[in-house]
Amino acid sequence: MIDYCMQNDGAAVVIEGLEKSYGTAAGSTPVLKGVDFLVRRGECVYLAGPSGSGKTTLLSIIGCILSADHGRVSILGQDVFALSGKQRTALRRNSLGFVFQRFHLIRGLTTLDNVCVPLTLQGICPTSARRRAMSLLDAVGLADKADKHPCNLSAGQCQRVALARALVGDPELILADEPTASLDAANGQDVMELFRRLTTEEGKTVVLVTHDQRIFRFADRVFWLENGCAVENSREAQSKSQGSGETGSEQPLYAVSCDKSNGE
Ligand SMILES: Nc1ncnc2c1ncn2[C@@H]1O[C@H](COP(=O)(O)OP(=O)(O)O)[C@@H](O)[C@H]1O
Ligand SMILES: [Mg+2]
Repeated sequence: MIDYCMQNDGAAVVIEGLEKSYGTAAGSTPVLKGVDFLVRRGECVYLAGPSGSGKTTLLSIIGCILSADHGRVSILGQDVFALSGKQRTALRRNSLGFVFQRFHLIRGLTTLDNVCVPLTLQGICPTSARRRAMSLLDAVGLADKADKHPCNLSAGQCQRVALARALVGDPELILADEPTASLDAANGQDVMELFRRLTTEEGKTVVLVTHDQRIFRFADRVFWLENGCAVENSREAQSKSQGSGETGSEQPLYAVSCDKSNGE
């Protein structure tokens, strides 16, 4: 297992045999049952799957927000479970940008100050932080909302502020949980193109959770999370289903069930 992580040291994300259960009053519920997942640097990889399949759980483990029960996780060449709490925080602050499914904006701060938060935590001086945050707000089309508080913004605008905050620290690895869920078609397309450019022009790595199969075309690769395992979908599978008449934009491009035996 160590060999596998070391062999793929140059990858952005290497996950092997990852298991995670949640303890509830009814007992322990397994969510991830042996996930293997590899993302190379500079790739834009999507993680899809039905609601409740564990997409947010897996993304949170990659983002060093949640711990796992078993397995290996290497992020940007660092063995996450071997890091101290301080080292994990440093990795999260300096190298990861996370777009949360429910935004997690701070209500008492303006949008500009919300976007400044990662820079403040990195110790950047307030003037530079505000300048950089303003340019990100401009990039997501919200420069005119800099002084507004989140409660005065629509869900789609909050989603774009959350995106600006995730990108403001210039992270190497960007993790986005359903970042287009609250956006209309035009803004959704803009955001997907932005993620694409971040990988092709700036060499960033993106792992994006979505259940919207209409945006799969923006991905280098798509993994399907089902029955606690991750299975990669191939482009051949996409074109096959498109060729068989499933061409309507609302139609699933493909669906692959987990065929991996894990003894469960
Ligand atoms: N903190 C938690 N405590 C207990 N169960 C949880 C917790 N977080 C998620 N779950 C359960 O784990 C499963 C996977 O959740 P999640 O990762 O949010 O799935 P997805 O993002 O694919 O919808 C769901 O059944 C969910 O109810
Ligand atoms: Mg989720």
